[in-house]
Amino acid sequence: MTATMEAPAKAADVKELYAADPAAAQKEAGTLESVTLNSEDLEWVHVLAEGWASPLDGFMTEQQYLSCLHYQMITGSDAGEVIPMPVPIVLPVTEDVKAKIEGKSAIALKKESGEVVAILRDVEIYPHRKEERATRTFGINADRGHPYVDKIFEGGEWLVGGKIEVLNRITYNDGMDQWRLSPLELQKKFKELDADAVFVFQLRNPVHNGHALLMQDTARRLKEQGYKKPVLWLSPLGGWTKDDDVPLDTRMEQHNAIIKNKVFGETETVLAIFPSPMIYGGPREVQWHAVSRMNGGASHYIVGRDPAGMKHPTENAMQPSLGDDMYDQWHGQTMLQLNPVLSEKLKLLPFKFASYNKKKGAMDFFDPARADEFESISGSKMRKMAAEGKTPPPGFMDPDGWDIVVKYYQSLN
Ligand code: ADX
Repeated sequence: MTATMEAPAKAADVKELYAADPAAAQKEAGTLESVTLNSEDLEWVHVLAEGWASPLDGFMTEQQYLSCLHYQMITGSDAGEVIPMPVPIVLPVTEDVKAKIEGKSAIALKKESGEVVAILRDVEIYPHRKEERATRTFGINADRGHPYVDKIFEGGEWLVGGKIEVLNRITYNDGMDQWRLSPLELQKKFKELDADAVFVFQLRNPVHNGHALLMQDTARRLKEQGYKKPVLWLSPLGGWTKDDDVPLDTRMEQHNAIIKNKVFGETETVLAIFPSPMIYGGPREVQWHAVSRMNGGASHYIVGRDPAGMKHPTENAMQPSLGDDMYDQWHGQTMLQLNPVLSEKLKLLPFKFASYNKKKGAMDFFDPARADEFESISGSKMRKMAAEGKTPPPGFMDPDGWDIVVKYYQSLN
């Protein structure tokens, strides 16, 4: 293959949404009616403030929301420009709160502690049509037990849109703020590292050697293509996840351990938390995961099997022939490849299914012609082994990384 060096991808135009004068904003907030944010609303403020969702300038107005729901995009700052935006970023409020803020041009957004987080201007209130939001975003309704759809139905009857001005950087004081880098900080970091390609891996699970295989293989492929310094951006999702997912602090400990043990070889790796909540929206959500990382300076996006997917909450009882996954395992990858806007700006690195090869004693790309060489170690099988303190087959996960997973599951017993 001829090695052709390409110019590094131009990072996206990121607009942070911080108040120009935080002291004045703080003073003004004292005169305003307010909305109290729950932890997930706060995570969305974090996402918006740092420009992960640029050019979105606040919680979605009704037009932005409809555009997101029906077209999966919003308009950009240049004429005719459209940006993929498949996930609604909205602020639900109850009837009581609506009555309090109705007619105001600006309101304060506060934490439960009363601390002011932001001012929201050009307030617009519109109905939260929950069933429509749920079915259009996920293809599933409230009676089926999807964890994020449940949250939608627990939320208020109204949505508040408007531009936000955030007073201070959002921090969590959980010992992990040092890994919460904003898109602009990441762009700077990649420049300092002299990266000529940044390949990002979005994840919400501990890294096993199947995941690692995707990343190792990418580094190799990029070098073959002529890149001199491909940098891996390991990007664990840090916001809300469902109860049976491994919590962020355990995952971060595991990620740090495997990086230390050189699971990614000599590839320079930047570990940084992505502040968004998870929505388990499969093919729609993976587009959000990709576009937000473009804002952080990624030039290449790895996507494998069933991104942002989960088991169907009712095991597809209405159509058992579809199996027990909520989404087709390859639709996420296909939708990314078909995305007319993204595919021009972000190079996609699609991968096949990585599974445990018993003959090799290592994770390997599944080959149906040699199916009997492979053993599937599913998430639930892994959880069971960890809870029972069992050792997985050699080559499945870095041993130090595995110990951390075991420690977590045994703490639940
Ligand atoms: S996700 O919800 O963030 O997508 P996860 O941490 O499971 O969850 O996956 C991270 C990435 O690895 C996704 O791109 C997913 O498609 C890919 N992936 C996970 N497991 C495998 C596998 N066994 N084979 C191929 N790709 C995989």
